[in-house]
Amino acid sequence: MSAMLKSVRGGDAPPRHFLELMDLEPAVLRRMLDVAVRAKRGELAGKPLAGKSIALIFEKPSTRTRVSFEVGIRQLGGDVVVLSSKDMQLGRGETPADTAKVLSRYVDAIMLRTDNVRKIRELAEYATVPVINGLTDVSHPCQLMADVMTFEEHRGPIAGQVVAWTGDGNNVAQSFIQAAARFGFTLRLATPPELAPPAELIAWARAQGAKVELTNDPIAAVRDARCVVTDSWVSMSDERDGRAESRHNLLAPYQLNSALLKHAAPDAIVMHCLPAHRGEEITDEVMDGPQSVVFDEAENRLHAQKGVLLWALGLA
Ligand code: CP
Ligand code: NVA
Repeated sequence: MSAMLKSVRGGDAPPRHFLELMDLEPAVLRRMLDVAVRAKRGELAGKPLAGKSIALIFEKPSTRTRVSFEVGIRQLGGDVVVLSSKDMQLGRGETPADTAKVLSRYVDAIMLRTDNVRKIRELAEYATVPVINGLTDVSHPCQLMADVMTFEEHRGPIAGQVVAWTGDGNNVAQSFIQAAARFGFTLRLATPPELAPPAELIAWARAQGAKVELTNDPIAAVRDARCVVTDSWVSMSDERDGRAESRHNLLAPYQLNSALLKHAAPDAIVMHCLPAHRGEEITDEVMDGPQSVVFDEAENRLHAQKGVLLWALGLA
């Protein structure tokens, strides 16, 4: 769409942002996953993103998010601009609001990875095109779409199943809490007390009827679970706080190793959003073992994000 046409688009429906799972109805998320499954099966017809341009902005490093979005957009016939905030005026003080207003004149959607959730909220408030959350310090909803897809591909409907998290109550854990509320699975999180997810988020999930249980005992969390998940001990947004050593000490008892996995259901699958720090939060034996689906999970980012993009652009 031309810049002139865009600038006179007053009166349009608000853009379909994909910021947090909690913002979206279960049926909408399910629609995205249905598209994702069709995308994986090669059942999406034509080039639905032909003529669309999408900006991917990274304030933090990325392998999976960057490549899966870029390749996925191209496969759907769209054009993509990949930007590092270091090379943008955003990185030297231009506001997210002004960035949003400018980019909305050029592109049809914006994906942002940031270590400050306030930036993506501001971007979304001022953008007239959809904004997609590609990870913040407190959430990673695209990851959860791939994770739910991966669970269901291996073990059938996730509703009513028990998923266990062991480790840091970080951004991915917090999106798991939102996913438990939206997809109806039981979530047991084992974290050190110091690294528990925010109490308000747990309270929100419970108020939604979600079964979210919090413990400091990884064995109790994992017992009979159909899926065991972990993530790195020091997230990108924690790298500058100088607490890496204390995090390692606190989190060592939460390592996902064979001894812990034995307490899960015999057919439990193991997930990790990657990148993994082998020998820290997960052992080689578990990561490369028969229960691990971590590389299917990584692949499913590609398919799940097609569902997100097509929904956000009003094409699904
Ligand atoms: N899981 C994930 O988001 O990976 P990247 O940091 O490589 O994008
Ligand atoms: N919790 C990790 C996830 C990386 C995809 C981080 O934020 O660094």
